[in-house]
Amino acid sequence: MSKQQGPAQVKSKFIGQPLDRVDGRLKVTGAAKYAAEFSAPNMAHAVLVQSTVTRGKVTKIDIEEAKRAAGVIDVLTHDNAPPAKRPSVPPGGQSQPLLFNEVVFSGQNVAVVIAETLEEAEHAAELVRIEYAAEPHEVNLEDQIDKAFLPGTGQRQPISKRGDVDAGLAQAAVKVDQVYKTPTEHHNPMEPHATLAIWSDDEHVTAYDATQGVSNSSRALSDVFGLEPKNAHVINPFVGGGFGCKGQAWPHLPIAALAAKAVKRPVKLALTRRQMFTSNGHRPETHQALTLGSSNVGRLSAIRAEMVNDTSRLESFVEPTGNDSALTYSCPNVSVRQQLVRLDIGAPTYMRAPGESSGSFSIETAMDELAIALNMDPIDLRLRNYAEKDERSDRPFSSKSLKECYRQAADAFGWSKRDPKVGSMREGRMLVGYGMATASYPANYWGASARATLHDDGSVLIQCGTQDLGTGTYTILTQVAADGLGIHPDKIRVEIGDTHLPPAPGSGGSNSAASTGSAVHNVSAALRDALVGLATSATGGPLNNVAPSDLVIESGRISSKKEPSKSITYVEILKAAGKKELQQEATAQAGRERGGTGTKGYTMQGFGAQFCEIHIDPDLGMMRVARWVGAFALGTVLNAKTLTSQLQGGIIWGIGMGLLEETFMDPVYGRYVNSNLAEYHVPVHKDAPPIQVILVPEEDDIVNPVGVKGAGEIGITGAAAAIGNAVYHATGKRIRELPITLDKIL
Ligand code: MOS
Repeated sequence: MSKQQGPAQVKSKFIGQPLDRVDGRLKVTGAAKYAAEFSAPNMAHAVLVQSTVTRGKVTKIDIEEAKRAAGVIDVLTHDNAPPAKRPSVPPGGQSQPLLFNEVVFSGQNVAVVIAETLEEAEHAAELVRIEYAAEPHEVNLEDQIDKAFLPGTGQRQPISKRGDVDAGLAQAAVKVDQVYKTPTEHHNPMEPHATLAIWSDDEHVTAYDATQGVSNSSRALSDVFGLEPKNAHVINPFVGGGFGCKGQAWPHLPIAALAAKAVKRPVKLALTRRQMFTSNGHRPETHQALTLGSSNVGRLSAIRAEMVNDTSRLESFVEPTGNDSALTYSCPNVSVRQQLVRLDIGAPTYMRAPGESSGSFSIETAMDELAIALNMDPIDLRLRNYAEKDERSDRPFSSKSLKECYRQAADAFGWSKRDPKVGSMREGRMLVGYGMATASYPANYWGASARATLHDDGSVLIQCGTQDLGTGTYTILTQVAADGLGIHPDKIRVEIGDTHLPPAPGSGGSNSAASTGSAVHNVSAALRDALVGLATSATGGPLNNVAPSDLVIESGRISSKKEPSKSITYVEILKAAGKKELQQEATAQAGRERGGTGTKGYTMQGFGAQFCEIHIDPDLGMMRVARWVGAFALGTVLNAKTLTSQLQGGIIWGIGMGLLEETFMDPVYGRYVNSNLAEYHVPVHKDAPPIQVILVPEEDDIVNPVGVKGAGEIGITGAAAAIGNAVYHATGKRIRELPITLDKIL
């Protein structure tokens, strides 16, 4: 018998089960510790002082009164702080000082006050007197739209072209030519950013940091302070939401470390809710000019997308709103261009489904407008232009089950009961609208490493330098390890959120389940194979010289398939080998970058279908989403409960985007005016209708070792367009500017 016949068979089926969160008890009892809840002996507190003008120079900073205030240890400004620069993030940005004396947006960090208590630091921060030579500022995207420019090579591809758009439009029988707009939005996670920085000596810092990427925070600290990467130790066991604003290291992180270094004590710095509107990015405002050309039977002949978003004076951030226009539908002639307008505002950044959430609003609304113009069902129009491959890069999809998503969602929703006539459906005195749209988001997979250790009590420790944003990472990794090793989840403990663990990327772009799931899949297989190797090579043991393919593993016991009485447990294997523990490390390596050219020659993308019913008061314009059905095909389901929950969360974000969310800018002062949770409207429980999520079965053995397409972001995509399309169906009013508020309906 040869050992080349294949691995042992594992009998275990925890992947896919709707397991409760393994960290649920810690969360609901308050035992789960978030960054701001950590403390250290002799800890001081820091409070940021931010600019009150929008553009200009700092001419004088008087810190004397603040320094004399009770409890104040020090006040750092551009003039007296040790030199340190924020590294250039995102790519294309400039390296920036941490504390500024030139102001290019309102809310820029000018000083930091360090005191014995938080209250003393807050009080003293108000005593820092700053004089400015203010200059005129520009904060309005539409005023500057003529100055839009094409960015250089940054992290995004600003242009996508195929065929001849002018020719395609010239031959079109029907056209849609409109501008769609989405406003500035902010992430507003429940947990604000916070950092506790502790230096053990000049070369070693430890930071408890609220972040979507302990590895990102570590890199930023090592860059800013010139430390060995391993000496910038970042810890973050739990995250209270991120949605993109914790995706990169913002200046408050190195400022906390700078303050700790200056006062030679541990320093904690937490952002206020108001500071969360200027200190960690926003979803940029977009202006999306979209032209569709179609034959009179609804076959697309041309798509032209001229997209613009705002960015800051310091960085060039492209919100790739054109992705969906280039990818979602089959069309021979496509031109997408994404330009930027520089404003005196803070840097924009990734926010849940960056690009696709805003960009699906334009293409999915325009497709609805085209369906109306053609007198065609919007699903039929989409099926008529179904993209069998990625025409943008002429590659097949690793898998695509969108037709099945349309079908299952339409069935469950009852789309066939829709009277297509606008304004024809009512419930009581309320107007009823049905709307639908396509959802789509890249299946990112960046790879990761993991370590698995079997102990002599039969327990297994899984370690990985990822983090759980609240989405269920602890739980899904437990399930993947359970099936990889053939043991019960109760025997597994997952340790994450620490850069001293095997490296993993930041949790962004919905990559974590795919990346860390694959790493844990691989390391579990490695540990299992090592145990099988010990069992089959143990002279005198029950499985000595049995081929692995003749073995079956269940509940931590390896047995011979032919003679089930011959078996040995994992614990017995360790004992026989005289080991206290057995450890393996493994890496899952990615062969593809987001939106880039794949080494495997496939485009990997998740798809879904969004259907909603909206009720509108015909006299008052008040709107309520009455119910929602979303069907998504995302490869392997690791946990039906956490996956459904993520998709529901995304859809609720979509309802926020469609009806509620908008950050208002005061044009005179150049600052956001609703920078609090009372005036920045996120959906609350009453805004969330019954949401049915359908998980459409899909197998994809190309996308990554666990076959997973991430689900953190796709739930929001298409949602705002589905709402707008339902609003049109109910009222005949086409709203092309989000959010759809009642003043726009009446
Ligand atoms: Mo997501 S916006 O990549 O956290």
